[in-house]
Amino acid sequence: MDDDPLYVIDPAGTDIHGEAARLRARGPVTRVLLPGDLEAWSVTGYHAARQVLADERFSKDARRYWPPYIDGTLAPDFPLIAWARMDNMSTADGEPHARQRRLVLGAFSPQRIAALRPRVERVVARALEELAEHAAKQPGEPVDLKARYAHLVSTRVIGELLGVPEGDPDGILDLAGYVQPDPRKAAEEYAALRGKIEALVQAKRRAPGEDLISDLIAAQPGGCPVAGTGAGSDTELVGLAQLMFNTGAEPARNLITNTVLALLTRPGQRALAAGGAVDWDDVVEETLRTDAPVANLPFRFATEDVTVDGVTIARGDPVVIGFAAAGRDPEVHGDAAAEFDARRPDKRHVAFGHGVHRCVGPALTRMEVGLAVEALFTRFPGLRLAVEPDELAGQGTFIMNGRRALPVHLGPDHESEPGQELGPELGPERGISP
Ligand code: HEM
Repeated sequence: MDDDPLYVIDPAGTDIHGEAARLRARGPVTRVLLPGDLEAWSVTGYHAARQVLADERFSKDARRYWPPYIDGTLAPDFPLIAWARMDNMSTADGEPHARQRRLVLGAFSPQRIAALRPRVERVVARALEELAEHAAKQPGEPVDLKARYAHLVSTRVIGELLGVPEGDPDGILDLAGYVQPDPRKAAEEYAALRGKIEALVQAKRRAPGEDLISDLIAAQPGGCPVAGTGAGSDTELVGLAQLMFNTGAEPARNLITNTVLALLTRPGQRALAAGGAVDWDDVVEETLRTDAPVANLPFRFATEDVTVDGVTIARGDPVVIGFAAAGRDPEVHGDAAAEFDARRPDKRHVAFGHGVHRCVGPALTRMEVGLAVEALFTRFPGLRLAVEPDELAGQGTFIMNGRRALPVHLGPDHESEPGQELGPELGPERGISP
């Protein structure tokens, strides 16, 4: 083990799982240096992560609990400033958090998710058509499955949830999602998306539908916005809608991509799913465990000294939870924790978080990704990677766990060539990340 008390995090996330394993080897809670020379705690153990996530002595509100932010002593170019500035439900505490969460949870009830299913099926079917059309225009050339399929499905599903009109005439979905590493561009895109959401809110006020924005409008007192920025205001409403755009699309896009990659590199697992021996849902769940789309999320702050797994985190110290690392914790999943096996009965993970800030979107995401992956492998049984697995570049951030692109060959199209035999030779397991 490296004796240096500070582990320097690779800002580009070049080797998310390798780094997670090195951090875990130092203990479930360990000291790290984040981009911008910021000392923080990294929590990579499954139990320690759940403990911190469930402990209300940790807050996500930098405005109240992070001394350098409050004192204004952070460097003006601190690269993670956007995460500290964030001021919405996901950083709120106590009753203000619970009240906003109640406002959005109705749209994620089992009934509403079931009602969305046919719309998600249509989204998937249309994205598959567009993928096939794109590939047909450039025969023999690889297609980027992330941009040409996962992106379309994940953004359009958020569009369905929020009530974006058919065909997205205002181009709102083009701005949903990709975490923009350049802070200046990120601010521009954030403002542009905000303007478009404001316009959508006005349109929904005139013509409500069965969607989250219409729900939020209906929850305003008398259906009218309260002046200012507080509870029931349009500012709060637009902020909540923007939070859904910003948090909902990117991880779902990565989950589709990561699940497809898991099967393309493991013919045995692919055969089990294609043959019905394991459910597609189990494949998605195992991907959440072994290749979680959110790798490390900044920030939490200790509101008082808290001891976690024998380590004292001092009041005001920033903490980063290693969501991706925790799913591969050998203390929970044994020596084979890093191996992908959709048949494993225990697939515990914290990919969707835990505690009061746990994700609101798991049911929607599981339905969407399950449908998208099953439909893809059914339609294109000859789907295969167009590059070697180790040529796939990461997304360039330590925060998200995704690939920049997923170049594939679609192979023969099952629907248009019904006589086609099932895809590739089924060989022994050949995982890229054991
Ligand atoms: C693969 C898909 C997804 C993953 C891996 C994921 C992951 C997460 C994680 C780890 C958290 C907890 C953050 C924390 O505790 O600091 C979270 C929170 C959240 N997620 Fe997701 N998410 C996904 C999809 C979605 C979708 C589809 C939506 C909405 C459309 C969504 C909306 C939210 C919101 C609003 C929160 C904040 C909840 C709160 O603060 O109370 N997520 N998500």
